Amino acid sequence: MKRTLITSALPYANGYLHLGHCAGAYLPADIYARFKRLKGEEVLYVCGSDEHGVAITIAAEKEGVSPQEIIDKYHFANKEAFDKFGMSFDIYSRTSIPLHHNTAREFFRDFKEKGYLIDMEEEQFYDNDAGMFLPDRYVEGICPNCGNEHARGDQCDSCGAYYNQLELKNPVSLVSGKTPVVRRTVHWYMRFDKFQTFLENYIESHSKDWKDNVLQQSRSWLKQGLAERAITRDLTWGVKIDDLPDVPPEKAKGKVLYVWFEAVLGYISATKELMGILNKEGKAGADDWQKWWKDEETRYIAFIGKDNIVFHTLIFPAILHGRGGNYILPDNVPANEFLNLEGQKFSKSRNWSIDLRDFINNFPEPSGVDALRYTLAMNLPETKDSDFTWKDFQARNNNELSAIFGNFVNRTLQFALKNFEGIPELPDKYKWLNLYWKNLIHYFDSDHQTEHELVANVPEELRKLLNDNDVNLIYALWNNSSEAANLYERFRFRDGVSETMNIARAANKYFNDEQPWSVIKNEPDEAAKTIYICCQLVRSLAQLFAPLIPYTSKRIFEILNLKPITGESTKGVIKYPDYWKDAVIPVEIAGKKFGSPEILFPKIEDDVVNAQTSKLGLMLETKENENMVPLITIDDFTKIQLRTAKILKAEKVPKSKKLLRLQVDTGIDQRQIIAGIAEHYEPDYLIGKTVIIVANLQPAKLMGEESNGMMLAASDSTGKLRFLTTEIDDLSAGSNIK
Ligand code: MF3
Ligand code: ZN
Repeated sequence: MKRTLITSALPYANGYLHLGHCAGAYLPADIYARFKRLKGEEVLYVCGSDEHGVAITIAAEKEGVSPQEIIDKYHFANKEAFDKFGMSFDIYSRTSIPLHHNTAREFFRDFKEKGYLIDMEEEQFYDNDAGMFLPDRYVEGICPNCGNEHARGDQCDSCGAYYNQLELKNPVSLVSGKTPVVRRTVHWYMRFDKFQTFLENYIESHSKDWKDNVLQQSRSWLKQGLAERAITRDLTWGVKIDDLPDVPPEKAKGKVLYVWFEAVLGYISATKELMGILNKEGKAGADDWQKWWKDEETRYIAFIGKDNIVFHTLIFPAILHGRGGNYILPDNVPANEFLNLEGQKFSKSRNWSIDLRDFINNFPEPSGVDALRYTLAMNLPETKDSDFTWKDFQARNNNELSAIFGNFVNRTLQFALKNFEGIPELPDKYKWLNLYWKNLIHYFDSDHQTEHELVANVPEELRKLLNDNDVNLIYALWNNSSEAANLYERFRFRDGVSETMNIARAANKYFNDEQPWSVIKNEPDEAAKTIYICCQLVRSLAQLFAPLIPYTSKRIFEILNLKPITGESTKGVIKYPDYWKDAVIPVEIAGKKFGSPEILFPKIEDDVVNAQTSKLGLMLETKENENMVPLITIDDFTKIQLRTAKILKAEKVPKSKKLLRLQVDTGIDQRQIIAGIAEHYEPDYLIGKTVIIVANLQPAKLMGEESNGMMLAASDSTGKLRFLTTEIDDLSAGSNIK
């Protein structure tokens, strides 16, 4: 295969991306794209916003703005967040552009001509109050398959079933909240039944190279038998078809293409858009999109989350095949399972989520973003659901990125700077070290012995310059980098990343075993060789880690005064040399000066992650309160008399751990209040403070003490409690709070 086309599922522009999205279809694809570019392959990596469908219109209604405002807000926000996250898309397009509408309409017309489409009158749910049909997510009910009570009109999130909405039990309109009626409406149906055999063959041709979950879902759909499916909807937002020739406008009025039918075509539109841009710059032909979509020499990989499987393994292939003209089909669809957050499902509605953009605001440093990429990569839900926790994030940063990789880079560069003022010159004895190193790699490459034999049988000649430690280190570099490559090729990113980290482990061991700090005293030439080799490893690691932690990789290249090579987008135009292979070959860096090394991954302290964890808990709590506590009117609020009061006396209530007895001046009277804050404040500290009280609370007795009012205090999720006080001096006791 000459080239690789990579896509990631187009995220809906209806909300901010969260870390679950990143781990599903984006980070693995980016690692893959960067890796492939570094391998010297021709790569195009395409993505964009999915801007149609009920997901968008519902978001618009919720926020009280137009769908256009919604997609503009989230498209640009998500594009920016992706950019900061280091995503190396060659283009990030959007499905609202005319180019995409036309692409989708072309497919529709073609299918109509070929007889793949039939129009039929069908029954649909209709909301009488709202005066509209209720496609897809506009109606909810009980799943006919699994009994989930919040199944959507077209699909159940719980069991993944797709069905005709009329099969939903107890349907409820999400617009009016009422039970919808059934009305007749015309739709165009795609004859997917005509593709049954073709798709069966296609799926079985991949029985060896596709993931189990992907094969399973696809097969179970095929087993049920493909039926015709409506590819239009009664909606005003989307790709319209009422002005197409051969389509009766009165029939097509108020209808748009079903979002799933056109969204997958967004990959093609995005490619066309990019080639159009490049064409204007004189860098590509406007028709070059075809070489990515219609040439057998292109291998197409579609990265998605598990909820998108059949759309990419059955629906999209049927559409591509049906269109004719040699469209290629996905060669692999490495769907991921879901990422959880601290053991629970990500849920925007429950506020149990970490938005990518919030994360980046909290950890804006390149090291923070890379630590996130690394943590997610080590926890990718490749074969089963996995979990992101703040503790794990901290541990990955502190114990792996910092203690292993960062430490090796740092100790090497510090030592080199202090003792050699840069990368050491090679002493005469080691003048030919690079050559021996290359020959050793050549020997590893060309010999097919087992791991043990390979190292044991290194030719005597090479041993003249390379001792056991040197050979073992170079072996680890050679072996693990090719293992990582094999694993990446098979979409096993977690393991590939571990292999890479193991090179850094081997490098630290090498440093320890060679003991340059003590050797330098009597044998400076030997120490120079050791540090020279370590400096080579720093550069090798920067290269091999580039797909994963591109920001840090770039910094290391810059520190070494080398050109950063991190597999960035070339818009499919330039092909790199095989940098991956070159990563294990030493470069000419003897005697090179470099800048002062910085700490690559500063330690993340407990209080930083604890704050994030409790923020998560608080957000959930706030949301739950919001859901439970009914709204009150201003009149309700004014029933509560809030006023400032000055604390005159404070003492512990005998025999009580929690209670303090306070005498306060409310401006109109002096009174006693019993407050449950003894564990949080020393009585003396409180005297003289002006606090806020509820003045018209019915008197109550606490541990036999009368209490006439209540102090306002705030508590966080850990139970820490603080008085609400006033800082303003001239606000005397008794001021009313309104
Ligand atoms: N927007 C859909 C989602 O977030 C995915 C669309 S993938 C595409 O689930 F291929 F249709 F674009
Ligand atoms: Zn279900």
